[in-house]
Amino acid sequence: MRLQKIVFLSMVLLLTLMTVAIGGSYVLFTINNNREQQKDLFKTRAMILLDAAERQVLWDDRLAMKQFLVNEVKGSDLVNFAFVTVDGMPYVSTFSKGIPVALLQQPAVSEQPSVWEFQDTAGRVFYDIRSGKSPGGTVVHLGLKRRAIDRQNHNLFVAIAVISLVTTAAGILLAVVLARRATREIGVLADALRSYQDLNSNEDPAIFATSSDVAELVQSFKSLTEQRRLAAEEIHNLNMELEQRVKDRTSQLEAANKELDAFAYSVSHDLRAPLRGIDGFSLALLEDYADNLDTQGKDYLHRIRNACVRMGRLIDDLLQLSRITRGEIHLETVNLSDMVRNIAEELQRSDQSRGVDVQISPSVIADADPVLIRTVLENLVGNAWKFTRNTGRPRIEFGVTGDAGSKVYFVRDNGAGFNMAYVGRLFSAFQRLHKSDEFEGTGIGLASVQRIIHRHGGRIWAEGAERAGATFYFTLGEERNG
Ligand SMILES: Nc1ncnc2c1ncn2[C@@H]1O[C@H](COP(=O)(O)OP(=O)(O)OP(=O)(O)O)[C@@H](O)[C@H]1O
Ligand SMILES: [Mg+2]
Repeated sequence: MRLQKIVFLSMVLLLTLMTVAIGGSYVLFTINNNREQQKDLFKTRAMILLDAAERQVLWDDRLAMKQFLVNEVKGSDLVNFAFVTVDGMPYVSTFSKGIPVALLQQPAVSEQPSVWEFQDTAGRVFYDIRSGKSPGGTVVHLGLKRRAIDRQNHNLFVAIAVISLVTTAAGILLAVVLARRATREIGVLADALRSYQDLNSNEDPAIFATSSDVAELVQSFKSLTEQRRLAAEEIHNLNMELEQRVKDRTSQLEAANKELDAFAYSVSHDLRAPLRGIDGFSLALLEDYADNLDTQGKDYLHRIRNACVRMGRLIDDLLQLSRITRGEIHLETVNLSDMVRNIAEELQRSDQSRGVDVQISPSVIADADPVLIRTVLENLVGNAWKFTRNTGRPRIEFGVTGDAGSKVYFVRDNGAGFNMAYVGRLFSAFQRLHKSDEFEGTGIGLASVQRIIHRHGGRIWAEGAERAGATFYFTLGEERNG
């Protein structure tokens, strides 16, 4: 309803303005034009009259002359006329109350006919159409009221007003019809679209019975909606399928992992007994048959025992690695800064000779399993401590970076570093980028770290350069620690 009113009022306003502008300018133009034409006409008549009057003046027959002029006035737009002698004396006139003084006082006439506009005492505007001076010295005045000229224009004005009125009325009528039709179609369109908001509706609204642009529009909306519905359905199905596939793969992987862990556990467990045997009998040989062995024999036995210790450590690490994947995870809010400080203090206590500059960002908080995250930090900070052993001014840094989206924790050192070409090996068990005689270790630490980080739903990666330090970055699951 509001829309209809707006359309209607705008159309009416526009039509009225157009009619007034066109009609008005036409009327103004024609009135002016007519006036000029009338004046010219009267000038000519004044000349003819003067010519005719000249003869009457010569005969001095004022009566005949008046009669002649009265006949001229009849049925014409002339109001009055007057003949005036050159010395300004009235000769013959049709003015009932005498020739107006204004007429007699007019400026000296020229040879040419002219038009003079003046106002009488009642405020009416007259045109005095004067002939030029005749050879006999007479001047003829034709008094003409402006109304007489305007009377002709009046008819024209009425005609234009009537045409304008009719046009405006027709326009208004048209506006009403168009506005009604437009709003009706829009209403139908809105109804039809509303009925399609319910995507399950298959019923076609009545609009399809008619053939109109709106029906076409609704039809294309319907097909678009249908396409969208089908696309959404397809996406949903694909998602379901994908979810199922992920679930299947995950359970397969979980099963394989469990199997592998069980295998690693039993293997390492079973390896302990023969290892104990080797170590025990080597010791027995050293203790009970020392006299029968030369120095080289004893040295071999010592090497066997050292290798047993090393293998024992490897078995322990393997068992620890398989334990990491087995236990439940218990998330808590953990202050990582405090944890790193504590680890660094322990390292300092165990190795008083070292002086490492440890920089820790204060209050770095995370949701993590406190036991497992401690293992992560012990390994990362422990590595940094170890690989800065030969560095002039060792420095270890712990902090957090990343935008609001996800926090990235890091442990940085300025130690031995590593060649980025081998970065892919860092997190595999028993893979080491440094020699054991330079930096001790079994190469299991980072493999455990990666497992723990993955169990938290996070990621770990490293950057480094040889003799230029290393940085280890990790996240802890974006939803929890973002
Ligand atoms: N901060 C570091 N700077 C340079 N290299 C590093 C650093 N941390 C790890 N690495 C490289 O990655 C290898 C694997 O590290 P990982 O912690 O798994 O083993 P490890 O420290 O040698 O032994 P351990 O099992 O006792 O931790 C290291 O041997 C070393 O070559
Ligand atoms: Mg390590």
